[in-house]
Amino acid sequence: MPYPAPAADPSARPAPPPPTSQGRDRWLMAKKFLTRGRAVASFSPSSRAMARTMLDGIDWAAARCVVELGAGTGPITAELVARARPHTRLLVVEIDPEMGGRLKAKFPQVDVVIGDACHFDRLLADRGVTQVDHVLSGLPLPSFPADLRDGVLATSARMLSPAGTFRQLTVMPLIYYRLYARYYQDVRFRFVPLNLPPGGVYVCRGYRG
Ligand SMILES: C[S@@+](CC[C@H](N)C(=O)[O-])C[C@H]1O[C@@H](n2cnc3c(N)ncnc32)[C@H](O)[C@@H]1O
Repeated sequence: MPYPAPAADPSARPAPPPPTSQGRDRWLMAKKFLTRGRAVASFSPSSRAMARTMLDGIDWAAARCVVELGAGTGPITAELVARARPHTRLLVVEIDPEMGGRLKAKFPQVDVVIGDACHFDRLLADRGVTQVDHVLSGLPLPSFPADLRDGVLATSARMLSPAGTFRQLTVMPLIYYRLYARYYQDVRFRFVPLNLPPGGVYVCRGYRG
């Protein structure tokens, strides 16, 4: 005869609710920030306001290919997936295997590559892509060695369509304006107060070469 199920202990605390996907992402990002500080550069995933600001003004009817570099746990990717049209090819690159695995699970419809964004031209070549409409970078470029930073910016500029943009998020508003102005003729900064910490997006056009 089966044992009856034990009676619930009325003094026991109710089990905590399972963490939400957002809660899990925050934990993962904080953990990565503590263990890989400079490579992650932010202790919290970008806010929805940051993601919207990153994508504002993109002409989705014209966009054939958008690349996201350093996607983390995917707050920008989520907005990208929500806005992109079926004809827009999305390529998302993240170097951290744990975050990359989470991206793949969350966005099975997206081409997520777990790898180094410094070589994203090779990833595009493998896919037969010769032009990109927008590059969205979450990479901590200011802390990259200069040659790698130059490489990412030069590759982006080389691959961008004439009306294309290079967009860089930051959590240190305006501090690196001059850095991007060294590479691009037209740099506009969009401040995003609703982010932890407040930050913004540089929208860059016209590579100086
Ligand atoms: C500031 S976080 C931004 C994450 C996400 N885009 C967001 O807005 O929350 C920087 C991300 O870039 C990734 N990263 C750093 N170096 C990279 C590289 N060389 N290639 C690809 N990803 C890289 C880090 O692992 C981290 O997830």
